[in-house]
Amino acid sequence: MTKANYSPRYNQAHKTLLATNQEHVLHFWEELNEGQQSQLLDQIDSVDWEELHRLIQTHVLKKPEFELPPGVEPAPWYPNVPPANLKEKYQRASKLGENLIAAGKVAAFTVAGGQGTRLGWDGPKGTFPATPVRGTTLFGCFAEYVINMQKRHGSVIPWYIMTSPVNDAATREFFAEQNYFGLDPANIMIFPQGMMPAVDMVSGAVLLEDKHSIALSPNGHGGSLKALWTSGAVADMKRRGIEQISYIQVDNPIVRVLDPLFLGLHALDGAQMSSKMLPKRDPLEKLGNFCIINGKMTVIEYSDLPEDLAFQRTGKGELRFKAGSIAIHAMRVDFVESLNTQPGGFALPFHRAEKKVSYIDPGTESIIKPTSANAVKLETFVFDALPMCETSIIYETDRDDEFGPIKNASGPDVLDSPQTSKMIQTARAARWLEAAGIRVPRKSDGSVDAVIEISQTTAIYPNDLRRIELPNEIKPGQTVVL
Ligand code: UD1
Repeated sequence: MTKANYSPRYNQAHKTLLATNQEHVLHFWEELNEGQQSQLLDQIDSVDWEELHRLIQTHVLKKPEFELPPGVEPAPWYPNVPPANLKEKYQRASKLGENLIAAGKVAAFTVAGGQGTRLGWDGPKGTFPATPVRGTTLFGCFAEYVINMQKRHGSVIPWYIMTSPVNDAATREFFAEQNYFGLDPANIMIFPQGMMPAVDMVSGAVLLEDKHSIALSPNGHGGSLKALWTSGAVADMKRRGIEQISYIQVDNPIVRVLDPLFLGLHALDGAQMSSKMLPKRDPLEKLGNFCIINGKMTVIEYSDLPEDLAFQRTGKGELRFKAGSIAIHAMRVDFVESLNTQPGGFALPFHRAEKKVSYIDPGTESIIKPTSANAVKLETFVFDALPMCETSIIYETDRDDEFGPIKNASGPDVLDSPQTSKMIQTARAARWLEAAGIRVPRKSDGSVDAVIEISQTTAIYPNDLRRIELPNEIKPGQTVVL
């Protein structure tokens, strides 16, 4: 053992781990080479061990009980189609949103730090081929949307992408390989989010992925609110005069990366952070529920909403808690700044997720590959910042036009898979073509008898198709790219 082995840095790490019952993290220290030792110390330094110690008591060794606060009310929303009394406001909002984009005051923001395990894709999820004909990747779809919007409004739309240390390098390489999809790399900023250790569900011990590394995983999309600040993204936005952030997640190829109407309603009402919603298809659809608690906008997880509330109906027979979250938000840059600069900082609540995590057992020095969930991962969720807003609005979007997420590997009857998303994309393209007067072949069950892809550089609204030359007809079984 050399002196370097017991450097002040080692001693400090050892002291912290000892105080939080995690000294086994250094169990293999003497077997490690210098590089591995310094990597392990870097990881140890990146964790707030005191906070983790508290969380292990409250979220790992026991399951936190969710207590429904009294007086939960459904949140109101702006309907997709404006009623007569809101028509004029929607027009003003659209104009305002367009003006903000044209003035270069809106940034696109994609959270892409998740591991995408469910999809079984060996790479950043944004590199997954998502469209039905060209196989354009998820990142490619968003890039095309940004290119379209920049051209339409004659402005620069900077694009911020949150990765995690697990996929940051691969994401950067992919953007470089794709030549940034023709966008100016000076307007694309990629930055990683924070990580949290996975913890053994029974003992509360932090798991080692290897002798020299802790099993770390991304700390949830709530981590974006800190990462936007610590990465310098907020400073960069302020330098560019950006006022609003359009937040999307990486899994939905037909998301409106920036939506003037939604951004405009959010800005007109002076909201700090706003959300899009979809009317839930059924009471138990797995979407977070928008509620008002103590006058504040709050999302209650589907698993936490008691069934008697989930099934409640209004006098008109509609679900009372109908507004489901699809993880699309607008947020003011100064809201993110104020969270990060308020005295004492800010903290989002942690959520517990039970996962299967392989690890090396310091006791037996063997590698354990569990067959069922053995670990707890701790994550924060971005929507938990909604109650911190003075004002927050919800806008109802159109499911068929904006929601075709890819979350699960394809298989018969698997929801939110590449297959279902491609069908949704073709169905949307067919509707847009029909609205432009083109006949689209349909099968007896009404589904489209063709595979149709409309590039987002060609059209992001149905009316865009009126400006281009369209095929005279589409034949049954044909593959079409516009
Ligand atoms: C999410 C929402 C759900 C919503 C659905 C809509 C949560 C907890 N659930 O479910 O309410 O109905 O989307 O599609 O938000 N991510 C990170 N870093 C992380 C974790 C996730 O960047 O540490 C990103 C992922 O890359 C992805 C997004 O967040 O873009 C969603 O993550 P995921 O955990 O897969 O949530 P969903 O189950 O899809």
